[in-house]
Amino acid sequence: MPHALRRIHQPEFWQRLPSLWDSDVEESLQCCQVRQETHDVKSFFFRSLAGHAFRFSPGQFLTLELDVDGQRVNRCYTISSPPTRPHTLSITVKRVPGGTVSNWLHDHLEVGDSVRVLGPAGDFSSALHPAERYLFLSAGSGVTPLMSMARTHRDLCDDRDTVFVHSARTPDDIIFGRELTLLASTQQRFRAHFICEGLGEQGGWHGLTGRITLPLLQLMAPDFMTREIFVCGPAPYMQAVREMLREAGFNMARHHEESFSFDRLPAVHQAPGVTELSAANQNSSPNSNLNSNPNSSPAPATAFSIVFQKSQRTIECGAAQALLDAARDAGLRLPASCTQGMCGTCKVRLLDGKVDMRHQGGIRQREIDQGMVLLCCSVPLTNLRIDK
Ligand SMILES: Cc1cc2nc3c(=O)[nH]c(=O)nc-3n(C[C@H](O)[C@H](O)[C@H](O)COP(=O)(O)OP(=O)(O)OC[C@H]3O[C@@H](n4cnc5c(N)ncnc54)[C@H](O)[C@@H]3O)c2cc1C
Ligand code: FES
Repeated sequence: MPHALRRIHQPEFWQRLPSLWDSDVEESLQCCQVRQETHDVKSFFFRSLAGHAFRFSPGQFLTLELDVDGQRVNRCYTISSPPTRPHTLSITVKRVPGGTVSNWLHDHLEVGDSVRVLGPAGDFSSALHPAERYLFLSAGSGVTPLMSMARTHRDLCDDRDTVFVHSARTPDDIIFGRELTLLASTQQRFRAHFICEGLGEQGGWHGLTGRITLPLLQLMAPDFMTREIFVCGPAPYMQAVREMLREAGFNMARHHEESFSFDRLPAVHQAPGVTELSAANQNSSPNSNLNSNPNSSPAPATAFSIVFQKSQRTIECGAAQALLDAARDAGLRLPASCTQGMCGTCKVRLLDGKVDMRHQGGIRQREIDQGMVLLCCSVPLTNLRIDK
């Protein structure tokens, strides 16, 4: 019996609350169960090797740091389990044709394996937008954050008036179909609807077919205009929903969406002025870090030189320009994913100089203390030397 599991079978385990998982401390999570959800979707369950309890908001995501074929790769996956079951957490991964990590996880990650994770991060959470009535709209693997929210409400006996509409390609592609139906049958004010684009191989589908439209939405949630709406799915789906809601005159302040592709998110640094950045520093926001080598002093300049030590390239970066943008403009190919300071993909070591970094959870305090920075959300305050 694995060590972490043995602990659960000791009576003392249940007599005291476990200490909380601190994502700032390097700790691997151990895969303790793999569940096939559909033909191309698996859930992977993890527990903390040190016996910690997980703490996160429903809807948040983790960044997995994996070594795939000798390459370090980072990918984000939403926690599909609820924080109300803190001894384990799960991610639910859909295979992406030709995709590196989703296929690697499906083909290689097994019970007993360990993975490094970063996070939790993200602010797509019903916990941040409490409402009397919710409308959850998901398509494909976009079901995961909404499932974590729905599971949380169920576990808290918080029978919120919720309409959950999940769109899938075919009936065989419906993720968590049986559980959503069960949630609806055990909670008075929870309703689940499924819409399939096509019938696929399966006969006997008597549910809704096609794509989500305003008349369909009015049928499933006639009072949708009064609900707090959370949407997650592929970019075209989310765009269609946005257009549909705007057309209906919905108050978009009550519309929240999460994209699984970071492409469409706005950049963090929209070229603000240097003065504005300096003022932001003085506010000492928790995620704003001045990362510096003590021997360097800031220079009043509008551009700085950035030396990439390993690739022996020197580039110029504007004082209000993100380091990643400047590097890309100069033709340097550097790994990056979210460009929002969330995923940690663009982490590098700063050898010399000072930056203003405004991240959103993609780096641990310990790493910042060791001189690491995220290129996508850092602007230079001096000339820099980077270990890359
Ligand atoms: C906040 C967030 C939460 C997420 N949550 C989930 C979740 O809960 N579940 C889930 O399944 N996914 C989730 N994702 C998506 C996930 O992070 C990955 O993007 C997804 O699994 C695909 O990764 P991959 O490595 O398999 O594909 P990648 O290797 O990144 O490839 C993606 C696509 O690009 C193509 N491609 C790759 N390289 C090339 C190339 N050189 N030339 C041309 N095409 C190429 C591939 O064929 C594939 O179609 C989330 C993403 C974000 C940002
Ligand atoms: S690319 Fe995600 S943190 Fe920089």
